[in-house]
Amino acid sequence: VTITAVDLAAQWREARPPMAGVHLDSAACSRQSFAVIDACAQHARHEAEVGGYVAAEAAEPVLAAGRTAVAALTGAAAADVLFTTGAGNALDILLADWRGPKTVACLPGEFGPNLETMARHGFDVRVLPVDGQGRLDPDAAATDLRADPPGLVHLVVLGSHRGIVQPVEPLSVAARELGVPLVVDAAQGFAHVDCSTFRADAVYTASRKWTAGPRGVGWLATRPGLLTEQTLARLAHAEVSVAGRVGLSVALGEHVAAGPQAVRTRLAEVGARTRAVLDGVAGWRVVEPHAEPTAITTLTAPDGVDPAAVRAWLIAERGIVTTYAGVERAPGEMTAPALRVSPHVDVTDADLDALARALTELP
Ligand SMILES: Cc1ncc(COP(=O)(O)O)c(C=O)c1O
Repeated sequence: VTITAVDLAAQWREARPPMAGVHLDSAACSRQSFAVIDACAQHARHEAEVGGYVAAEAAEPVLAAGRTAVAALTGAAAADVLFTTGAGNALDILLADWRGPKTVACLPGEFGPNLETMARHGFDVRVLPVDGQGRLDPDAAATDLRADPPGLVHLVVLGSHRGIVQPVEPLSVAARELGVPLVVDAAQGFAHVDCSTFRADAVYTASRKWTAGPRGVGWLATRPGLLTEQTLARLAHAEVSVAGRVGLSVALGEHVAAGPQAVRTRLAEVGARTRAVLDGVAGWRVVEPHAEPTAITTLTAPDGVDPAAVRAWLIAERGIVTTYAGVERAPGEMTAPALRVSPHVDVTDADLDALARALTELP
């Protein structure tokens, strides 16, 4: 563990209220900092003091800083960053607006709710080739795309159900050659893996995950011209949580201040440590390669053990928060449910040991 990692962990922990128990659930929802919580509350207070619409105008510089941070971290222009109500909302906006052929290529591990959104908008889904772990095979994918180009390519850079990073750049090269827009779901990838080199046509995420902003907010960054003027105008007048957007902008500022590269390096270390501590404990098995540079670890249960019941028991009896990931999360890839463990930069060996011990004490 490097000095930087120790500093980052300490800073992260001190910046937040203490956790009642052990929080290993950032892939679902990270813990917000005091500064983010206070910024949201301050904005609500300002709405009461000067009026909601006047307060929104006054908050514009903070929101502009948030959009600038997203731009710096994705390669988009700040003017092309829109706030949304979450990751799923961004996909919904994109697909509702799409005027091209309604065919979309994605991976077998596509996020289940995204598949439902694609179906709701009348898209036919086709699957790109992957290896045995569900990682894209870029050469085979390029061949498939050339043989029969879809309307869109949609890639989840880091899964909700499995902590494996997808190679976005080679896919973006292939899609670009064909003039097929590439949309990247970075709900788990942003503030976790490098999203600045994708050269995608659209990238989106949720605030509450690795960015540690408030719930109910997210953003969508597009290349100019991807969204129609009609959609942009509609979104500009939609009713939204300005306080949430202010909180997200503060969280983005905190991420930039912490150092995105330092956060990525630390999260990779955290994942490696998590897997080393948990693999094989009481018959639980880690799905990811141990050195995969992410902090999402999924565990498959020993025979006869139900991860949903284990997740509930861990919260009720040990104060340890993890996620139950059922197969509906990635219906084209998961064959068994999993327990997901996703600590942020501040996790300690004691936290991981507490989970390991708890898994040996299940009723
Ligand atoms: C990969 C992925 N995509 C999309 C989403 C949906 O995000 P939201 O709940 O903000 O719509 C999630 C949330 O878990 C996710 O992990």
